[in-house]
Amino acid sequence: MCGIIGITGRVDAVDGIVAGLKRLEYRGYDSAGVVTGDGRALRIVKRAGKLENLTGALAEQADGALSASTGIGHTRWATHGAPNDRNAHPHTDPDGRVAVVHNGIVENYQQLKSSLGDVRFASETDSEVVAHLVARHLDEADAPDLLTAVRRVVADLKGAYSLCLVSRDEPDTIVVAKHEAPLIVAHADGVGYCASDVAALIAHTRDVSALLDGQIARITPDGVEVVDVDGAPAKPHDYHVSWDLEAAEKQGYEHFMLKEIFEQPQAVHDTLLDRHRPDAGGGSPRLRLDELRIDERDLARIDKVFILACGTSLHAGMVGKLAIEHWAGIPVDVEVASEFRYRDPIVDKNTLVIAISQSGETVDTIAAASHARDQRSPVVSLVNVVGSTLAREADGVLYTHAGPEVAVASTKAFTTQIVGCLLLGLYLAQVRGRMYATETADILSRLQQIPDALEEVLGLDAEITALAERYTDVDYTMFIGRHSGLPIAMEGALKLKEISYLHAEAFPAGEMKHGPIALIEPGSLVIALAPAGHVFAKMVSNIQEVRARGASVLAIGTADSAAELKDHADHVLALPEPPHELAGPVLSVVPLQLFSYRVATLRGEDVDQPRNLAKTVTVE
Ligand code: F6R
Repeated sequence: MCGIIGITGRVDAVDGIVAGLKRLEYRGYDSAGVVTGDGRALRIVKRAGKLENLTGALAEQADGALSASTGIGHTRWATHGAPNDRNAHPHTDPDGRVAVVHNGIVENYQQLKSSLGDVRFASETDSEVVAHLVARHLDEADAPDLLTAVRRVVADLKGAYSLCLVSRDEPDTIVVAKHEAPLIVAHADGVGYCASDVAALIAHTRDVSALLDGQIARITPDGVEVVDVDGAPAKPHDYHVSWDLEAAEKQGYEHFMLKEIFEQPQAVHDTLLDRHRPDAGGGSPRLRLDELRIDERDLARIDKVFILACGTSLHAGMVGKLAIEHWAGIPVDVEVASEFRYRDPIVDKNTLVIAISQSGETVDTIAAASHARDQRSPVVSLVNVVGSTLAREADGVLYTHAGPEVAVASTKAFTTQIVGCLLLGLYLAQVRGRMYATETADILSRLQQIPDALEEVLGLDAEITALAERYTDVDYTMFIGRHSGLPIAMEGALKLKEISYLHAEAFPAGEMKHGPIALIEPGSLVIALAPAGHVFAKMVSNIQEVRARGASVLAIGTADSAAELKDHADHVLALPEPPHELAGPVLSVVPLQLFSYRVATLRGEDVDQPRNLAKTVTVE
């Protein structure tokens, strides 16, 4: 959460910073700010609210007032202190000598503030103390430079942070520090850059370096110097970004969310690409997950799996549980990552942990995975963002290859995560000898039909829009499902509430009669996941129960269940039969994504930037 960008060496850094902040706004939009320096003074402009408030304020500045070749910017997701102008970043020391922008939480900020004595703070943030501390260190007898002063400060910081600082006295220098919050640095054509995410840098370069925890860097127009906290040279993680600027644009869609919903056939195609083939030496084709890096013999010994994730990724993990238990025969627990390390999970070297995350930067998931690694459990991350912290820190990684996901509400990341889970389930079955090679090959070839089936589902958009128009003002929506329909019911409810702010909940359909059915009254909407399959008859009974109590029912069926559903539901959406029952969720979530999107836009909500949310959650 919070987005950081810094540029040094450009004729006008502010334009580049604002363009970068635009791409980082998904990380938080409570306020935005920028600071530049010309060697005489630091000049700051910052405003509460979305980036457009900052750009409006910048436009009011006298011509050239902020122009400089070095500057840093920030877009905020508030943690400490209300989202107002005062708490907006950048923050400075009382003399305006040093300015800082920060992503994360300095957990010991109160203690650090007290250590400064009787000093006035201009904001309620945890971040401001960093500027004060750096300024104090700059005054030390050995007259340290900004890099050295920052090194001395981070030695005392506790918590998660990526920090970016400029000093009035070092006009062409930006210093950054990273611990448990992402920070990318780069240098191209005489310009040095840093940002929370490559999306902000992609217009300038695709060759970047991710700083590792504990690393500090000095960025100048001449290059990037990376050191550790003791000042010794350090090596960041260098990589090349495979997607380009065009992929990060809206390409004519009204919102990123809609674009990303419609990108799902391609995204799933890319996730499945080239997974089944002979090895370099020939032989018969097998399912290959090249980046997994965990010895097949170790995987064959696994007797328990934990899937750890948050939000939408957790729902994908619930489908993963069904796939792994069904194909590989290993017991699987799916757990909210933020809970895992605060209890006493029983994990050891025979427990495989699968950590699922679009961003690979969700701090709860990273911390849970690292807790499991401390108990010697192998960790596989199922991640979209290449080079992200989770991808780097896990023993093995399976990339979803969904391309950049910008909308806060996750869509294509989710469907590709489910496909990733199916691949992992099949792979574990393969290494454990639970499946004939022909069986694996058959399922994999059937999964290749998903992109075409997704295109067919997307063709229902007009029908779904008409339904959304009808239910735009519904007070309460309950989503119900069984087996692989349950995670999709949960995901459908999450999508609806996060972008339309309508009250929505999901329940296992069989649980209704144990309490939740009391909520149903005339006017309630129930969305029921009812594909053909082994739980269909039970779903029909549950639909009848809610209808008998006055609810309107929208049933999401499949070609083989739709005709029967028409006798029981007010509306039926007939999806194509999935190529495998466990692939059904990849298709059935799409109408729910579209329904939520259409309801939210009809209600006039800001779909790509829903209130109180941010895309990458780097605080606990
Ligand atoms: C909802 C959504 C969130 C994320 C969650 C985890 O649409 O996007 O619930 O799924 O914050 O994020 P990642 O997958 O980046 O770990």
